[in-house]
Amino acid sequence: MNRKQMNKPATGWLTLGIETSCDETAVSVVEDGRKVLSSVVASQIPEHRKFGGVVPEVASRQHVETITQVIDQALVEAGKTMGDIQQVAVTYGPGLVGALLVGVAAGKALAYGRDLPLNGVNHIEGHLYANFIQSPELEPPLLALIVSGGHTHLVKMTDYGEYEVLGKTRDDAAGEAFDKVARLLELGYPGGPFIDEAAKKGNPCAVDFPRAIQEENNWDFSFSGLKSAVLNHINTEKMKGHPLQVNDVAASFQQAVVDVLVDKTIDCALHHGMSQVLLSGGVAANSQLREALGRACKSKNISFHVPDLTLCTDNGAMIACVGYYDYCLGIRSRWNLNAVASLVIGERQNKWFYPIYEELT
Ligand code: KG4
Ligand code: ZN
Repeated sequence: MNRKQMNKPATGWLTLGIETSCDETAVSVVEDGRKVLSSVVASQIPEHRKFGGVVPEVASRQHVETITQVIDQALVEAGKTMGDIQQVAVTYGPGLVGALLVGVAAGKALAYGRDLPLNGVNHIEGHLYANFIQSPELEPPLLALIVSGGHTHLVKMTDYGEYEVLGKTRDDAAGEAFDKVARLLELGYPGGPFIDEAAKKGNPCAVDFPRAIQEENNWDFSFSGLKSAVLNHINTEKMKGHPLQVNDVAASFQQAVVDVLVDKTIDCALHHGMSQVLLSGGVAANSQLREALGRACKSKNISFHVPDLTLCTDNGAMIACVGYYDYCLGIRSRWNLNAVASLVIGERQNKWFYPIYEELT
């Protein structure tokens, strides 16, 4: 296979990765793209819990308050100073625009002040690259299932920076479905971990919830019907005067999500002849999904990769990792880089990036 030309810098290259796309202020120092020297995550979950979900303006304000502390802590924990850093990578989309702008402004200020290269990074790409940190020998081509609070994507990665989206959700993201169903069951926020725990005590066959889009060679997803089916079930049980079996509903809902994610991923991998499958994003923390997809891959002789839990949810290390590989490919952001709420994976606007040059000086 013809690989894209990579111009790797001398070893020991330090990238500062900044992530503020949603409700985590996260900064990391990464060496040579895959070695994490520090990864600091300031979660805003307690702030948003009282509203039952992320409030965009609250998120932006929290990022503004904490970002410099998180940067300092990441440098201290890595045993480095800004003078040691050689590149700044920052998430510029997709996500909440006000939240993204805080990270973009901070990243620009740091890079501009020290005349360092700046790389704007796609958050979804970041989730995928979390696997490169986890598995140092991993190389494309591969198929990635990226499942988070905002996204559900099946992405074929042919080379670094080369993607083809083969499937995505038509409505709710998988994590969004977990969060909404957890709210219906009054389990708490964010819902994923609560449903995961409740499901361990429930019967996954108790309620036969729907599995959407079962057409051949169609790898899109849909979870809004499933969420409505859970609501209908809860209302019906109430009307009948039955006590709600929360653990059974959680287990049956989770089984429906996991079945669809696993079946489509395996079918897509076989159809496209992919021998490596990656799982990533916040929902990749789900114990049943990790286990079921791992087992299904094994039965088809497909190698399976999933990051540790801390690399599944939002973090700065995965952003630094993408930034490093983009840098090696000659990609550099301009100083007018801006936030893009609905950035598509693989998309790069010329107005915010320099043309790629073959020979780097
Ligand atoms: O990737 P992430 O941290 O943020 C986004 O980019 O959206 O993902 C957060 C999502 C939330 O919807 C949360 O409920 C879900 O990941 N999540 C889980 C689990 N842990 C987190 N979903 C299912 N099971 C889990 N154990
Ligand atoms: Zn994320």
